[in-house]
Amino acid sequence: MALHIPHNRLTFDQREVAAAERTAASGYWAGGDAVLAVETSVATLGGMNFAVAVASGVSALRLALLALGVTAEGEVIVPGYSCVAIINAVLAVGAVPIAVDVEHDTLCIDPALAAAAITAKTQAIIAVNTFGYPADIARLALLGMPIIEDCAHGFPLQNVTADIRITSFYATKMIGGGEGGAVLTNTKALYDFVLDWRDYTDKKPHPQRLNDKMSDLEAAVTTVQLQKYQEFVTQRQRLADCYLASFAALPVISLPPATPNRVWYRFVIDLAELPFLEIQSALSDRGITTYPPIEDWSTDLYPLAHTHNAKSAYNQVLSIPLYPTLTDTELAYVVSNLQEVIVSYSNE
Ligand SMILES: Cc1ncc(COP(=O)(O)O)c(C=O)c1O
Repeated sequence: MALHIPHNRLTFDQREVAAAERTAASGYWAGGDAVLAVETSVATLGGMNFAVAVASGVSALRLALLALGVTAEGEVIVPGYSCVAIINAVLAVGAVPIAVDVEHDTLCIDPALAAAAITAKTQAIIAVNTFGYPADIARLALLGMPIIEDCAHGFPLQNVTADIRITSFYATKMIGGGEGGAVLTNTKALYDFVLDWRDYTDKKPHPQRLNDKMSDLEAAVTTVQLQKYQEFVTQRQRLADCYLASFAALPVISLPPATPNRVWYRFVIDLAELPFLEIQSALSDRGITTYPPIEDWSTDLYPLAHTHNAKSAYNQVLSIPLYPTLTDTELAYVVSNLQEVIVSYSNE
């Protein structure tokens, strides 16, 4: 029997619904205590002293760049394979994004190439824990530049903390609250800056003083999701382990690296030379929705130069369904159909 398996499905229950209802009934839809509560929870989970809840992940990135003193004259080193939100945040503060290549296996920024890209104009480095794999913050920290660790794909364990960690609470992220994000730091001055700059009320005019605040309704739902984070991590790990074991016998594709301190936001396979669109369409015919997880944002104005691994990742990396509500029947269905499709195209 054919099943229909979406690429993503939200994971929530009566607890999120009750939290939203309570907050709606409280009359504090904005500016109430729910935002304070989410900030305490996310600081604890992210292992940092302070957190400021904001409107989105891209708000968090923009405010983090401003807090670190990035200016219109500056350059910011970013991974070539990453969400366009990162480029847009850099452009929003007037700086120039310098895209460097990612490592082939981890798809995280290559620290050696980041080092080589530093110029007199470099003001910060953004490192993304791509799909939940920990970017090498320890090596990047040796470069002497302010570092923003983008944890929008989850919080893997890290021995070294970046100056600022940001995250996103977009609905389909590991922790979803509809929209939303957070800036986390151990530095009081950076915290004070972001808290001040997320808002324009009673302040002098400035093009960066927008409305970057999170609402209490989003904060209430996000707080419940944060309480379930470890549960989500464990459930996703079990699914990923099953995929890793099941696809190990398919040498034509590359599987994501499984280090103990990673989390599994997405499970992506590198199809290498296999025909991407045909495989995606064959899976779709069998009711399984898959996506290239990150769209290539490069244009003539913002080209991707010298980023071989990033370019091939945009063309070859396919994300398959992975979320806590994926049932064992659905998991088995994805496994057997993906195996069949890959084998059929490998033999062509
Ligand atoms: C790594 C990364 N950083 C930042 C963002 C931006 O988050 P938001 O959509 O909440 O603005 C995204 C969005 O998908 C992302 O994948």
